[in-house]
Amino acid sequence: VNGEFNHDMRRVPTGEFMTPSRKTNGVGVQAEDTKICVVMVGLPARGKSLIAQKVVRYLHWLSIKAKTFNVGQYRRTNTPNPSADFFDTSNSEGERLRRAAAEAAVNDMCKWFAEGQGLIAILDATNSTKKRRRWIQERCDAEGIETLFVESKCDDEDIIMSNILEVKTTSPDYVGQDPESAAQDFRNRIRNYERVYQTIDEDEFDLTYVKLIDVGKHVIINQIQDYLQSRVVYYLMNLHIRPRSIWLSRHGESQYNLNGKIGGDAELSERGEMYARALPGLVKQSVGDSRKLTVWTSTLRRTIATARFLEFEKLEWKALDELDSGVCDGLTYAEIEERYPDDFKQRDEDKYNYRYLGGESYRDVVIRLEPIIMELERSENILIVTHQAILRCIYAYFMNVPQERSPWMEVPLHTLIKLTPKAYSTQEERLKADIPAVSTFREKGSSAKHQEAA
Ligand code: ADP
Ligand code: F6P
Ligand code: PEP
Repeated sequence: VNGEFNHDMRRVPTGEFMTPSRKTNGVGVQAEDTKICVVMVGLPARGKSLIAQKVVRYLHWLSIKAKTFNVGQYRRTNTPNPSADFFDTSNSEGERLRRAAAEAAVNDMCKWFAEGQGLIAILDATNSTKKRRRWIQERCDAEGIETLFVESKCDDEDIIMSNILEVKTTSPDYVGQDPESAAQDFRNRIRNYERVYQTIDEDEFDLTYVKLIDVGKHVIINQIQDYLQSRVVYYLMNLHIRPRSIWLSRHGESQYNLNGKIGGDAELSERGEMYARALPGLVKQSVGDSRKLTVWTSTLRRTIATARFLEFEKLEWKALDELDSGVCDGLTYAEIEERYPDDFKQRDEDKYNYRYLGGESYRDVVIRLEPIIMELERSENILIVTHQAILRCIYAYFMNVPQERSPWMEVPLHTLIKLTPKAYSTQEERLKADIPAVSTFREKGSSAKHQEAA
């Protein structure tokens, strides 16, 4: 696929991806023998490391093995605290050490692929000359690794300055230095890179690449070959860095929650109804008055009822419906244990992968939530009113929670969670409504009935 996109065309319709029939590892997205090296390109402070880290988090969430190889980290083993002149290309010792770091990173990456450890590697470095890119491509070709070059190009001085202040002055390169002199040195470092930087252009027509210009306002893609590559590119096209938060809440306590039953499409309990009435106040307290917000619910009665007093635009998503518990829908955990003892045990042993008879697993839920994540990435302030399992999966994406742990996280009823993505982490705040509710949390190995929450 080749093409150019302007900002408006980024708003491609979301929805399930078509999955070509091919060998998969169960997530329906990849050929097992695929090896892709995503090669970051761009001047320092263009968001390359951040993009690399987000792509890895997204791929891990989808159970696709991925790893970043950061050349700066390798370079720190020979030169921990370089000043700007280390990056002057007329500094031959600097050139030698930087080349050695790049080679060490590429060697480790090739080894990682050869050991069959993963599908997607990200080579995080400036890779800012044609010569360097050609060298990487030739190394990868020789090892049967596809290359996807991802260039971040941004000349907005204000953005670059705020990037430097946000992440570079606290870089390990500048430990113990005062932020002002670190920022000044980093600007000088960039000047040295600018002297030799070559943006990807027509001469490199045979490369597979995506150029993200001005934080994705303009995107150029060239020679994207296969499904996994196009998936990564689509993700990149949806990223933005405007400040925003995402609020998550479960629905108010339902009649089923009170009775300890799972699934269903029950109405709210009296206390659940109280939570629905309290939610606008709770939201106001957390969001403030001025911010615009869109509310997403599932298509089930309990989330729609919980959101009904919120005076914001609302959207119902089938993809946000609770994990389908198949033949166990409407039963209590104790009844499931009695009727399907083997299944009950199996679910405890591997809760992420266990699929209810005629229903879903957490893994299945993640696949159907992928369009939601994509839409969340390109949106601004969103409040999602959803269900226990769904909330765990969305939370796991933002907070990078591993699969063994995510299905076991406690997400109490009547609590508003605020997530604010920052450069290299996501901030979390929890606001509890003063309205009691049962706990629907069941610990691994217990057949505990639902209880009043502490
Ligand atoms: P690099 O790895 O290119 O040196 P970093 O990833 O360390 O840069 O920079 C992170 C900063 O870049 C963050 O402040 C983030 O908001 C910003 N950023 C993220 N994506 C982009 C982009 N596409 N263009 C410019 N800045 C970006
Ligand atoms: O009990 C509430 C509920 O949302 C059920 O409808 C659902 O089956 C369950 O939580 C999911 O949680 P777990 O995966 O821990 O059983
Ligand atoms: C670095 O040394 O910090 C670095 C990122 O190197 P390169 O210019 O090779 O990307």
